[in-house]
Amino acid sequence: MRTRGRLVGGAAGPSEAGVPVHAAVGGVVGPDAVPERAGAVTTSGVVTAAVPAVGPGSAAVPSNVPGPGGVPGPPGAASPAAAGPGAAGPGAAGPDGGVPEEATGGQQQVSAISPAQAALAALGGKEREWPRPASCRVITIANQKGGVGKTTTAVNLAACLALHGRQVLVVDLDPQGNASTAFDVDHRAGTPSVYNVLVEDQPLAGIVRQVAGIPGLYCAPATIDLAGAEIELVPLVAREARLNRALGSYDASGLDYILIDCPPSLGLLTVNALVAATEVLIPIQCEYYALEGLEQLLRTVELVRGHLNPELFVSTILLTMYDGRTRLASQVAEEVREHFGDVVLGAVIPRSVRVSEAPSYGQSVITYDPGSSGAQAYLDAAREVAFRAATLGQAG
Ligand SMILES: Nc1ncnc2c1ncn2[C@@H]1O[C@H](COP(=O)(O)OP(=O)(O)O)[C@@H](O)[C@H]1O
Ligand SMILES: [Mg+2]
Repeated sequence: MRTRGRLVGGAAGPSEAGVPVHAAVGGVVGPDAVPERAGAVTTSGVVTAAVPAVGPGSAAVPSNVPGPGGVPGPPGAASPAAAGPGAAGPGAAGPDGGVPEEATGGQQQVSAISPAQAALAALGGKEREWPRPASCRVITIANQKGGVGKTTTAVNLAACLALHGRQVLVVDLDPQGNASTAFDVDHRAGTPSVYNVLVEDQPLAGIVRQVAGIPGLYCAPATIDLAGAEIELVPLVAREARLNRALGSYDASGLDYILIDCPPSLGLLTVNALVAATEVLIPIQCEYYALEGLEQLLRTVELVRGHLNPELFVSTILLTMYDGRTRLASQVAEEVREHFGDVVLGAVIPRSVRVSEAPSYGQSVITYDPGSSGAQAYLDAAREVAFRAATLGQAG
């Protein structure tokens, strides 16, 4: 695989990475090194045999964890009244009770059907079901940059997969609770949430909520309480593996996918997500600076793989917020593809107003406006993920 030093801009200096233990992990992992390593990304997106396992907990990652991570803000904007599919029930046509302007003939939501039914109708009669993976795929959606489309990707991939017959749980691991907002799942402070699971050892089953309007879709909500968890977790036993433990004692036998939406940091919450998952999905925004920090993220993945979770690998990269009018976007996309090959999904998510509007109505873009370019792109991306599931299942 060819490499180009330009990819991560000036962020290449080892001293800058803030990961002083990297040398002990058996080599610095930069974009250059990852594809060659066993267990890491291959050009086919399929993991090769993992390197010998270092047992979980055998080495701490704390030197990799830069203390309290992302600065939590207030919980996401409240949904407009009665906006969620559940709240509105059958007859909810879309925002303002009307049909989104971008919707075109055939995709318009008529008043007698639910958003999920409308979305399914818009998908046409074919491909109602996507393949079941051999076992539940746990995918962490991570990028320490904020605003690159992690949450949007988690929410919309999950909705697409569920609309195609799969059982999907989204674990909201961001104190801002944006994924919970997008699913219109209650996440006011004090609501039983991922915080209680991670910090207080409550069972995950006690906080999982069904997402209204989309059968097969579930959400483990995050509240602002989680903002304290980065610090509260520090003295706890197996602090990096709390989520993994919670998932381990959760009956996931009926689930096909668990998608974990990370906060914008590489702190303990993200490390917990990396320890709990097998796959990492990295959304990359097609903008300048988008690639900065990528090396540090990949190094963190490598550290977690080396010390705590030998099965972890970067399975998927998704290009987001692509603006076809700018040369910059196509240049970024081209560079990412050159570096990461087939790990990058063919589908590219365009910048689309519909995508950004949907969460404020407590919906995914698929249910909000199935005919929009953003919905179609997320459908394409989810289809690729789902059909890779079959490949990964067979390979594994
Ligand atoms: N394809 C897109 N087109 C337009 N806006 C988008 C798109 N993807 C995400 N956004 C918006 O960009 C902002 C950041 O996205 P988000 O998914 O919350 O990022 P992250 O979770 O990485 O912080 C949100 O306001 C979201 O609605
Ligand atoms: Mg987010």
